[in-house]
Amino acid sequence: MGKILLTGGAGYIGSHTYVELKAAGHEVVIIDNFSNARKDVIDRLAQITDSPVLVHEGDVLDKAFLATVFASHDFDAVIHFAAKKAVGESVEKPLEYFETNCTGFSTLLMAMKEAGVFRVVFSSTATVYGEPLSLPYTEDHRIAPVSPYAQSKVTCETLLKHLKEADDRWTYGVLRYFNPAGAHDSALIGEDPNDIPNNLMPYIAKVATGELPQLTVFGDDYNTPDGTGVRDYIHVVDLAQGHVQSVDKLIYDNSTHILNLGTGTGYSVFDMLRAYEKACQKPLAYTVGPRRAGDIDCFYADPASAREILGFEARRGLDDMCRTSWNWVSRLRNV
Ligand code: UD1
Repeated sequence: MGKILLTGGAGYIGSHTYVELKAAGHEVVIIDNFSNARKDVIDRLAQITDSPVLVHEGDVLDKAFLATVFASHDFDAVIHFAAKKAVGESVEKPLEYFETNCTGFSTLLMAMKEAGVFRVVFSSTATVYGEPLSLPYTEDHRIAPVSPYAQSKVTCETLLKHLKEADDRWTYGVLRYFNPAGAHDSALIGEDPNDIPNNLMPYIAKVATGELPQLTVFGDDYNTPDGTGVRDYIHVVDLAQGHVQSVDKLIYDNSTHILNLGTGTGYSVFDMLRAYEKACQKPLAYTVGPRRAGDIDCFYADPASAREILGFEARRGLDDMCRTSWNWVSRLRNV
């Protein structure tokens, strides 16, 4: 089993990945600056895994901090989550996005190189593909980032490619996520945005808890069966298990891969709303509003390469995503 550094390990996907790595027998160390995660996540991780959590609080932009962390542990690999992820905000603040996402990553890679650690799993996104030329998206679909956020992820992917060309000791896994949803079965960790959520699932969850009055459906005139946007929602625990398979592939096979992590099935906004109503057993108010700028009708993954290369299979369906999300938010808000 390996010793793994998780950057951003207190975040939504990072925390679920921590649990799955521990369950697979890995030793895990978290670094997080808690800019978008709550500190009590750490206690909850200790509760779920029934063991103390090793955390260093600090920033991936801080070279001295990273040097101390790498000097204190002998890592086999790094999984890099620590990044900014709001597309709309990236349009307002491109500099901040490039600093955290790109400079943060290159600072981390430099620290890894100095410490002699050459295996990294990188959190990427299906947004790198841009407007679909064909669906499902396969990994060789052309890359066309339309936001600073998407561009920052493409830049990091490209850096990895150049790094490997320059020095073959590097092996990496680029994981392009589709739309993560749901929460851990324990209802102790999940997604908990502080502000008004940008994404559909956390928004619906806040309508269900009564924190927000209604969902605005961003357009019902798309070229889809019910007119609302169709996406490939993937349970966060399936996504987390994909990271375990990816890092294992690096450690045991030394083999670089760039893969979609999705289910291959698309659901519309109305499908999501109905499934959530079933989970929380009440009707949820909505109104249909205008389209959101930059939104695409429909996209979903071709998951075949991840299955072939990692043995990855998304096992949890839409009802599991809604049930676990509802268990988590209703417990958190005492609904
Ligand atoms: C967004 C991000 C993308 C990121 C992905 C997963 C944008 C433009 N893209 O994509 O980079 O990888 O999340 O985290 O933000 N919807 C509503 N009402 C809402 C919110 C969403 O109707 O209040 C609809 C959207 O129009 C879309 C679907 O729900 O059809 C999903 O939206 P969202 O959860 O924001 O994900 P993406 O648009 O796929």
